[in-house]
Amino acid sequence: MNGNYIFSLITVVVLGLLAFFGTTVFGLQYLFGVIVPYACVIWFVFGILKRMLGWANSPVPFRITTTCGQQKSLPWIKQNRIDNPSTGIETIIRMILEIVLFRSLFRNTKSDITASGKVTYIWEKWLWVGALAFHYSFLVVIVRHMRFFTDPVPYLISMLEYFDSLFKIEFVGEVVGTSLQIGLPGFFISGLVLLAAILFLFSRRVLISQVRYISLPADFFPLFLLMGIAGTGIFMRYFSKVDIISIKELTMGLATFCIPDGAVLAGLSSVFYIHLFLVCILLAYFPFSKLMHMGGVFLSPTRNLPNNSRARRHINPWNYPVKVHTYDEYEDEFREKMIEAGLPVEKES
Ligand code: HEM
Repeated sequence: MNGNYIFSLITVVVLGLLAFFGTTVFGLQYLFGVIVPYACVIWFVFGILKRMLGWANSPVPFRITTTCGQQKSLPWIKQNRIDNPSTGIETIIRMILEIVLFRSLFRNTKSDITASGKVTYIWEKWLWVGALAFHYSFLVVIVRHMRFFTDPVPYLISMLEYFDSLFKIEFVGEVVGTSLQIGLPGFFISGLVLLAAILFLFSRRVLISQVRYISLPADFFPLFLLMGIAGTGIFMRYFSKVDIISIKELTMGLATFCIPDGAVLAGLSSVFYIHLFLVCILLAYFPFSKLMHMGGVFLSPTRNLPNNSRARRHINPWNYPVKVHTYDEYEDEFREKMIEAGLPVEKES
């Protein structure tokens, strides 16, 4: 048992229980349905701005690009324009490939020692596949959720829902002469892929001993939180029939600052409150956690700078004037003594 993930798991369970008992026993629906969501959204926005402005204002006087290919050099030496960009356009292409396809993760290798004692490098493709599946399904789920906060629902969101639910599980049969059709209406692939990807990323941390060794509560907590969010969401959609009309009344109310009355809040399922509360915790936790790599990737000076140090001289803007004593001045000062001592001089007088 690894204390790091037990601690994170217990924290998430306690948070879920807080929302459950808070809304079912203590009648705190207004707190969990209105005050906490607003407070967390405000915290999230300010937190993100604070972190991003902090990074944007950090001086980067020199090029510290991470490179892994041939730099622009002599005309007959072929440059690797993406791994070692020297212009703005090349850097933008490199950034797009990094952000959209996680290119550096794709090229990731892990080292191992073979039975004969040789060190080998193995292409670590499954982490890349899992990371892509996780981030893209997360994005699709979030964009789809916008239907709760918009009225009418934008066409693009409906289209996304349509393609996401193309894969339908349906049972069509006949029971005592009448045809029977059982199906899960709009079975969203992204929701399941999201949960599967989180479980994959979690098992990787637990099953691979080296990864487990370097994993901290801060690595497990977001995974458990997301498991809780996706799990309660899936439970609401396919197992317990939540009152979507009332939920939409609340979410539209939150979006338009026009909160529905207490009866609507009191009628909402406790699973919904757990789902919403865990999302709020995620929002509050986001800006001050490792999840900020979402914003950091754009401002990382090891990625977003062309490597043109040889072609252009970059001068540190806060260099103070240094008092220099040139060799000419030195010789002028000590010439006679140098001649007396038999030392060579450049000028005789
Ligand atoms: C980090 C943000 C969130 C994530 C990752 C998430 C995840 C999910 C998932 C995976 C589902 C299962 C169905 C599906 O795939 O869409 C779901 C359903 C649901 N979520 Fe979320 N959710 C988030 C935020 C929210 C928020 C902010 C609300 C409302 C305030 C919300 C309300 C609901 C409801 C009502 C359902 C049931 C949908 C239905 O029955 O059609 N979720 N969520």
